[in-house]
Amino acid sequence: MAQIIAIANQKGGVGKTTTTLNLAYSLHNMGLKVLTVDFDSQANLTTCFGVEAPNEIETNIADLMMLMMDEKELPEPKSYVLSHDGVDFIPSSISLSVIDAKLRLEMGAEQMLAGILEPLRDEYDYILIDTCPSLGSLTINALAAADKVIITVNPQLLAMMGLQDFMKTVKKIKKRINTKLEVSGILLTMCDSRTNLCKILKEQVYDEYNKVVPVFKTSIPATIKVGESIYYGMSIQQYSPKATAGIAYREFAKELVAL
Ligand SMILES: Nc1ncnc2c1ncn2[C@@H]1O[C@H](COP(=O)(O)OP(=O)(O)O)[C@@H](O)[C@H]1O
Ligand SMILES: [Mg+2]
Repeated sequence: MAQIIAIANQKGGVGKTTTTLNLAYSLHNMGLKVLTVDFDSQANLTTCFGVEAPNEIETNIADLMMLMMDEKELPEPKSYVLSHDGVDFIPSSISLSVIDAKLRLEMGAEQMLAGILEPLRDEYDYILIDTCPSLGSLTINALAAADKVIITVNPQLLAMMGLQDFMKTVKKIKKRINTKLEVSGILLTMCDSRTNLCKILKEQVYDEYNKVVPVFKTSIPATIKVGESIYYGMSIQQYSPKATAGIAYREFAKELVAL
């Protein structure tokens, strides 16, 4: 039965989508069956899987959320689960922003995504949810569906600020909606280990947070290959197997599986 992991942080540009994509391929390369869910209306992850016009896909995650809210039956998974080089994904589109607004008006609608993913659990080893940069109703739905959450942090963006708010939200969700939710750990992304600043910031993160939540041993180096691989619609492993970030994502996947 799949473990469901949300990749989250209410800040944008901290490597959530990049981590979802590359973790998915690293797990796939380890022989594991992975489903990813694009749960951001910007549909960046969907684009990373080579979909050029996400708004033209017949059934996306927003449609499924709509059906759930209207208490209608969902179609067969094969009609909405797409696949790219061995990794399955449920696409997103801009219409997810409408769902965000609707969820806010609806009572007790925190478990809609959980309801969509629960029947898919048996088919996979891991289900990874790429979340949007907010602490709003979509992220709450993602955290309500998840067993674990990985918090991606770009130390150079001072992304540590705001982490307290995020942790508070996790605590509330654990208490009120989803008792099984655990923070898997903080993953440092885009670390330029050649710079002193990055080293200092990394130490700061460890000092401040390692007592509260684990910080993963592996951190992801910054490399332009990441941007290039996304441009060509590939994972970093496919695009440039020897790239430092690709090696780091492989290490990270191993660390995660061993937890
Ligand atoms: N390890 C990395 N090295 C260099 N650039 C990266 C790395 N990880 C992500 N990026 C770039 O940073 C930007 C933001 O990353 P993204 O994963 O989209 O963040 P988020 O989903 O949190 O908004 C993207 O342009 C991406 O290509
Ligand atoms: Mg993103």
